Amino acid sequence: MLTKRLLTHFSICLLSGCLLAGCASQKKLHWQDDTLQQKLAAVLDTAVTQYHLLQASVPADRFARTFEKGQVQTIKSDGWVSGFYPGTLLFLYRHANESSLLAEAKRKLQVLEKEQFNTHTHDLGFMMYCSFGNALQVEPNPAYKEVLLNSARSLLSRFNPAVGCIRSWDSDSSHFLVIIDNMMNLELLLYAFRQTGDSSFYKVAVTHANTTIKNHFRPDYSSYHVVDYNAKTGAVQRKHTHQGAADESAWARGQAWGLYGFTVMYRETGDKNYLGQARHIAQFLLNHPNLPADKIPYWDFNAPGIPNALRDASAGAIMSSALQELALYVPAAEAKTYRAAAETMLKSLAGAPYKTVGAEAGGFLLKHSVGHLPGKSEIDVPLSYADYYFVESALRYRGEIGIPGQKPAAK
Ligand code: GLY
Repeated sequence: MLTKRLLTHFSICLLSGCLLAGCASQKKLHWQDDTLQQKLAAVLDTAVTQYHLLQASVPADRFARTFEKGQVQTIKSDGWVSGFYPGTLLFLYRHANESSLLAEAKRKLQVLEKEQFNTHTHDLGFMMYCSFGNALQVEPNPAYKEVLLNSARSLLSRFNPAVGCIRSWDSDSSHFLVIIDNMMNLELLLYAFRQTGDSSFYKVAVTHANTTIKNHFRPDYSSYHVVDYNAKTGAVQRKHTHQGAADESAWARGQAWGLYGFTVMYRETGDKNYLGQARHIAQFLLNHPNLPADKIPYWDFNAPGIPNALRDASAGAIMSSALQELALYVPAAEAKTYRAAAETMLKSLAGAPYKTVGAEAGGFLLKHSVGHLPGKSEIDVPLSYADYYFVESALRYRGEIGIPGQKPAAK
């Protein structure tokens, strides 16, 4: 029964992959705003110049992370954000078709490749799918596919059947820590399932998502950042925060990861439970009294000092991209709300005070993100993943890349 279901699913996925490939040249959709489309085209053109500038500050064996103390800050390939820099270069290559962007992305892929065997992180989805996954959209190189399959195998090694989750952070054996961010790594597993038909990838992704629904969410569909499980029994020991304002607060980027992650889970499985979860999260976010008029969230929905608290542009960028996809799966009136919110977010990010001008942030595109405020790190700065999801969202809006799950436009 399961095998039949998986095989059917496998064929649907292959089909949706073909549909997706057919979407790349899609033009403006009826609901999109001409002025914003043009504005984003100009922003993307400028982004190419800015990323050339950024490239000059990134050493050969490192990856762009942020801009602090007047300098571009970088990380090694094993840092969780390593894949976003090559991923953004690949998006910009698809926009501008400039070979130097592709050449820089490929140099970085070579440095990143070894992480396919890294079993000490759950971030392989971010690191490898946002880079090699995007590279496959540019050229169907079998070597990229192999890297992704090995990365998915490495990620599987962190799954604990007693807990029903992939371990996020390594810690002593009395704590099995899972963070909401981990929902973003499941797309890599579902890619591996589509490619190989091996149901273990599918089962782990679905089990992790189901356990997350059960334990990470509050009745209002906001999510905890960290759930601490007993590794032997799977019992929940504690729910708390690491990067948020308080254990019971709604850390903005965590909510964004949940929204994006459950939207992807619905696309890849067709399971309505995941769609319901994504819709509930969207409603929590968009109806929240602390969501500002420009729809770029404070770094935490319960941050002390609102309305004077810092914003997190990265959360706005992630949400704007996810909402465009979620709008494909819901009734028209609801889709309109999600698209309008995504548009407002994109409009806000494309101008002051968020969008950088020229070299003011070393070439990064967006200002005003918050990495880890309680840890006193990356506060009110550019971040490579804010750029990545902003560019993804802008390209989705402009129809320059298909939104996965989107049907091709009628001829
Ligand atoms: N995944 C870590 C973060 O969102 O900051």
